[in-house]
Amino acid sequence: MRLPLMRKAFLREEETKLALANFIISADRLSMDAECKKFEKKFASFQGCEHAVLFNSGASANLAMLQALKNLGKLKDGDKIGFSALTWSTNTMPILQLGMIPVIIDVTPEVINTTSENLMERIATTNLQALFITNILGFTGDIDVIRKICEDKKIILIEDNCESLGTQLPEGKSGNFGVGSSFSFFVAHHMSTIEGGMVCTSDTEFAEMLTIVRANGWDRNLTNGQQQKWRSQYNIESEFQAKYTFYDLAYNFRPTEITGFLGQYQMQFLEENIQKREQNYLRIEKSVKNNPDFILLEHSHINTLSTFAFPFVCKTTKLRAHYLHKFNEAGVEIRPMIAGNMQEQPFYKKYVTELYELPGANMVHHNGFYCGNYPELLEADLVLIENLLKK
Ligand SMILES: Cc1ncc(COP(=O)(O)O)c(C=O)c1O
Repeated sequence: MRLPLMRKAFLREEETKLALANFIISADRLSMDAECKKFEKKFASFQGCEHAVLFNSGASANLAMLQALKNLGKLKDGDKIGFSALTWSTNTMPILQLGMIPVIIDVTPEVINTTSENLMERIATTNLQALFITNILGFTGDIDVIRKICEDKKIILIEDNCESLGTQLPEGKSGNFGVGSSFSFFVAHHMSTIEGGMVCTSDTEFAEMLTIVRANGWDRNLTNGQQQKWRSQYNIESEFQAKYTFYDLAYNFRPTEITGFLGQYQMQFLEENIQKREQNYLRIEKSVKNNPDFILLEHSHINTLSTFAFPFVCKTTKLRAHYLHKFNEAGVEIRPMIAGNMQEQPFYKKYVTELYELPGANMVHHNGFYCGNYPELLEADLVLIENLLKK
């Protein structure tokens, strides 16, 4: 492959692998402990939120957020949860797995995301208890307006920010608009811990429940004060008994100290890499502007566009076939626009009966594709992409 989706698993790969090897050799403990805590602290500070809870994947982070909201009594079986039509499978699947009803919301192709207009159209006919919005490939819709609508209508807003770490709007960082947001550190995201995920939140009760949900339903990873609260509520009188007391529904979604170590190490290079990727994007965008076969993606509402991809939307499906052929022939690895229109996915058809008209998601499903945008792209790689984007 001349130009794969991603060339390296890590930012500054060799240095990171060496540091990881040394860490493993010298570490006394590799199951979740101090390194995970340190990473959570650093990440919360980067994100500008109160709490970050580390998970073993972005998918786990998504499932844990919904489970925590159910445990807290904020959501219940049968509740209707809105979600962006253009997202990842494990954004939507937890809604079904947890006995709630997914309500698909269309996207606007120019911003490849759900906008307030898309949301208003859906809530005109359907009452939502929560909105699990996705910020796709570094882009967002008018998420500040969406937040206001959710506040007005008492809809709980959570964000899947797995693809948009570092994106910044004048109103704040993506991932800081709702009660919580998920991140993914799988390879080929903005930074990698091999596998890994995070939930960011400034709601202490939510963070506490997420910590319970992450590990077995016990209180071991809570603060002393929180432990006392749970133990006295359930009359747990000894440390011995507390060790195996399980308070609410949970999983084992724990990361390891390797996740914690790698996360901190990769964060050293994160800002620099976000900038490099944005520069790459702005350069490639010029070729898109010069070719009427593509629609131009709108991001004037975003200050920092943090994307690990070059998303393209052709004006017709025939044109996309033409460019897919060109990219394939040149050895540039390409992908569909994530899950496309989620309503078209086999699992969705199997479990969901209420379907909607989704012209925006269909357009992106049939006319969109992306290739990788990463810091190691060389001048010759960028020129290759520019040439492929010529009419
Ligand atoms: C929008 C979105 N949500 C969730 C996930 C799941 O993350 P992970 O692969 O870490 O489980 C991904 C994965 O790429 C994603 O793109």
